[in-house]
Amino acid sequence: MTTIHADSFHGKTVLVTGGGSGIGRAVALAFVQYGATVAVTGRRPEPLHETVRLIEASGGSGSAIPADLTDSAQVSDLIRQVVDRHGRLDIAVNNAGVNAPGPVADLDDADWDRIVATNLTGVWLSMKHEINQLRRTGGGVIVNIASNIGAHSTRPGMGAYAATKAAVSALTRTASREYISENIRINAISPGPIDTPMSVRPGETIAGRDQRLTTALPIGRVGSLDEIASTVLWLASPASGFVVGHDLVLDGGATA
Ligand SMILES: NC(=O)c1ccc[n+]([C@@H]2O[C@H](COP(=O)([O-])OP(=O)(O)OC[C@H]3O[C@@H](n4cnc5c(N)ncnc54)[C@H](OP(=O)(O)O)[C@@H]3O)[C@@H](O)[C@H]2O)c1
Repeated sequence: MTTIHADSFHGKTVLVTGGGSGIGRAVALAFVQYGATVAVTGRRPEPLHETVRLIEASGGSGSAIPADLTDSAQVSDLIRQVVDRHGRLDIAVNNAGVNAPGPVADLDDADWDRIVATNLTGVWLSMKHEINQLRRTGGGVIVNIASNIGAHSTRPGMGAYAATKAAVSALTRTASREYISENIRINAISPGPIDTPMSVRPGETIAGRDQRLTTALPIGRVGSLDEIASTVLWLASPASGFVVGHDLVLDGGATA
């Protein structure tokens, strides 16, 4: 039986977008633990360098390559730099995303544009350049981070975010059918509240979030970074080899 073991990702190069914080950093460190070399990207260099410092402290290797994923030229250059530095790209985790809550009629135009540009256009641009690289070397894996707010549920004040995450789910499923014949396997995960600042609502404390989730989620708690990282690794590994175009909900039962 195929399972994940210490060397599962040995010799593989992984790109994690939004790898300087939260879920992206946890996913980057988890891949390193299982043998991969990991490049992380985001707009701010400092958090990326801190992730690389943590990667190196754990005995792995990686690189920080700053880029704004809303800009096609920067995304193209990012993929080129990953290949220049590490020789290849095998796995991409498109995790970068933003939110700015607000009811649909009150949303600021600039916030709408920023959310769409990052969460949707940014994922599309990333996939476009990643796929064109992966097909040069015989294939690979892409995991997109959507949300359980989107294709699976909505909440007042989350219109822009939900619309972009539902679109990521649709883009994932469409592309999965287009490229699996070229050995590029594409899936998404849709997390519920995970233990990062993004799951803390405006005006709420971390303790307040945790208290809210005791009743708001069937599982009664926030999701851990480990739980999300292990799910991403499974989807990126041969253990999930027959899983194509799936949008895996990981939300403690919120949308069950
Ligand atoms: N935490 C949750 O409860 C939860 C639940 C469901 C889904 N998610 C999704 O999971 C992903 C990660 O969330 P998180 O909680 O880890 O949040 P986070 O810590 O805020 O991570 C978001 C990352 O995206 C990067 N980013 C934002 N805009 C970018 C741009 N234009 N170009 C490049 N990088 C950009 C940020 O780095 P820079 O600011 O330096 O660019 C940051 O590292 C997001 O897509 C989010 O929607 C989170």
